[in-house]
Amino acid sequence: MSNAPLIDIHNATIYRGNTRVFDNFDLTIEQHEQIAILGPNGSGKTTLLKVVNREIYPVLQDDSWVRILGRSTWNVWELRSHIGVVSHDLQARYRDTTSGLDVVLSGYFSSVGIHGILAGRINDAQKIRARQVMHELGVESLADTPLRNMSTGQQRRCLLGRALVHDPDTLILDEPTAGLDLTASFDYLARIRDLVGKGKNIVVVTHLLNEIPPDIERIVLLREGAIVADGPKEEVLTEENLLMTYGTPIKLARVDGYYLAYPASE
Ligand SMILES: Nc1ncnc2c1ncn2[C@@H]1O[C@H](COP(=O)(O)OP(=O)(O)O)[C@@H](O)[C@H]1O
Ligand SMILES: [Mg+2]
Repeated sequence: MSNAPLIDIHNATIYRGNTRVFDNFDLTIEQHEQIAILGPNGSGKTTLLKVVNREIYPVLQDDSWVRILGRSTWNVWELRSHIGVVSHDLQARYRDTTSGLDVVLSGYFSSVGIHGILAGRINDAQKIRARQVMHELGVESLADTPLRNMSTGQQRRCLLGRALVHDPDTLILDEPTAGLDLTASFDYLARIRDLVGKGKNIVVVTHLLNEIPPDIERIVLLREGAIVADGPKEEVLTEENLLMTYGTPIKLARVDGYYLAYPASE
């Protein structure tokens, strides 16, 4: 496992329902890479992370594999201690009465909330760890607050906490600032940068250039399940590549390590 790639996808054909999203797809992400996967809506980003997260499996065929840290099979609990996933659609699946602490604790069961028998299986160490994570994310005061009484930004931080209870080396963030206002977005991005500073690796999956933290080194551009460009951020993020990825002329500005997209005039 030591030097194996974090994610090694080879020759994968992947369907969602009847839609073939990826065909003979290859992607390798080494351990300790800070990477963003950027592409328009429908390009396959969420599908890709569901493959990594073992929620979707590629078509079984010769000379095709998906390996995480060198292995093809994982149980979810083991996987969570290496890779934590924070996705936007997960937020929508929680009951709005679930408390902040229960959202974080649910990470231990890879479940949505803590209901019935699960509640009895939480031990004190897990509760202490969950509260510590909430403290680190500035949401400790929301332990007993139901989701419906939180702002979207606070809910998002609780979900981040859910992934962090396992102290994974890598976090995969799907559209991390979707639905957040500027203050909440900047706060959330600052927390992600803080985690990078503490040694976490991040994979940001997004359609928005503006939410790529300066710490990202490598960019994969995705369009309709195919890689348009892949390499160092400075080389990949060009107006030409963005035109090919989004199919629309895009002007690009770089400010303080962030990239901003704006419409090209006639
Ligand atoms: N549950 C589903 N059933 C059928 N098709 C789906 C499903 N989810 C996504 N798709 C299709 O798969 C493609 C990729 O979707 P997705 O991975 O969600 O893209 P992205 O995250 O980049 O917006 C799209 O064409 C989408 O319509
Ligand atoms: Mg998506």
